[in-house]
Amino acid sequence: MINPLRGMKDTVGEFSKKYIFFIENCSRIAKNYGFSFIETPILEETALFKRSVGESSDIVGKEMYRFIDKGKNDVCMRPEGTAGAVRAFITQKYDRAGGVKRFFYHGSMFRYERPQKGRLRQFHQFGVETFGVEDVKEDAMIILMLKEIFDFFGIACKLQLNSLGCVTCMPTYKDNLIKFLDTIEGLCEDCIKRKATNPIRVLDCKNKNCNKLLENAPMLLENLCPTCKDDFSELKSILDEFGVVYSIDKKLVRGLDYYNKTAFEFISDNIGAKNAIAGGGRYDKLVEFLGGRSTAGVGFAIGIERIIDLIVMPKNKKNGYYIGAMSDNALKLVIKLVIKLRKSNVVHTQYISKSIKAHMKASDKAEAKYFICIGENELKSKTYVIKNLDTKEESVEHYHIL
Ligand code: HAM
Repeated sequence: MINPLRGMKDTVGEFSKKYIFFIENCSRIAKNYGFSFIETPILEETALFKRSVGESSDIVGKEMYRFIDKGKNDVCMRPEGTAGAVRAFITQKYDRAGGVKRFFYHGSMFRYERPQKGRLRQFHQFGVETFGVEDVKEDAMIILMLKEIFDFFGIACKLQLNSLGCVTCMPTYKDNLIKFLDTIEGLCEDCIKRKATNPIRVLDCKNKNCNKLLENAPMLLENLCPTCKDDFSELKSILDEFGVVYSIDKKLVRGLDYYNKTAFEFISDNIGAKNAIAGGGRYDKLVEFLGGRSTAGVGFAIGIERIIDLIVMPKNKKNGYYIGAMSDNALKLVIKLVIKLRKSNVVHTQYISKSIKAHMKASDKAEAKYFICIGENELKSKTYVIKNLDTKEESVEHYHIL
């Protein structure tokens, strides 16, 4: 028997029902906010992720599904959606056209991590990206959208916020942080590397010893330039106004290198150790960095496997028709009726004649709302009965119109 690879799962059964319910409703909400669907390839040039997600990230350093294809191209299965969306934005020359673009996407992402509950090697994200809006109101708007999504699905969560500064304040802060790091000894190996590649990443190191050593480190939030400070205040006041509860996490720097200014995560206490259910932020330099015209960007992505168990599904409502044949003669008519009703309804059927009892059982399983069974009597009388399985009401239909 061949099993799926470690950390990879089939989308079937209850998971599949919830998955489709989640995607449909997230897409609906995103469209209400003016976002349109984008899909980018799963395979991209490795350089795209190296340059965007960044060499200092665990994703690029340790977790990429990377290989040389038959054309000797160095390619990688996307570990996240932002880099591809930015690449597509530039490929389509939207950066040159100017204006605002808002995209939503969903699909598989690949990270070669050690699998555990809520951490897979192939997992799914629903994400959005806005291009061309520098105003922090957009950051607030996408956070409100995320909150609306989690509220809709009955998912309790907490928002953590930080600001990572901009080209004005970040370089000075980084210099000060490096000066501080130079004064301490005993950082873990990863942090020693991060000090050289992207020093702010030492702040979110999970190593307890590093945490202790960094207790007195300078914090980004206390070193913001006036513009970043004002933007962060405005963001907080919009969230306050709309009742979004948040806490400030000065050490939240996110595991991807492209962020500046707003950075945020939604966490849930109900899913175990891997508790980030969504993450996002602003990346105003990324379009330019990847070769496009300078364009601001901001977005988020939800980890679908992390929230799937938390989704409260609406009570199973019966839906559509079940139509069964009780004789071989009746099958032809059943198929005609099925095809007609499928134009605007969900219709279940079987292609063999069976007893009414067997059809009833099958209609129960299919959770159909209406039940029709056609046999010799119905053929003779040119009528059939439609039974509403919710109310048990029955009505007689003449089918000469078929
Ligand atoms: P991220 O924080 O790397 O951000 O991933 C977003 C979410 O994907 C996480 O909060 C988590 O729920 C889920 N996730 C990450 N890794 C795994 C895994 N191995 N198994 C299951 N779920 C996982 C990004 O990907 C950014 N592109 C988000 C973004 C969009 N920022 C701006 N725009």
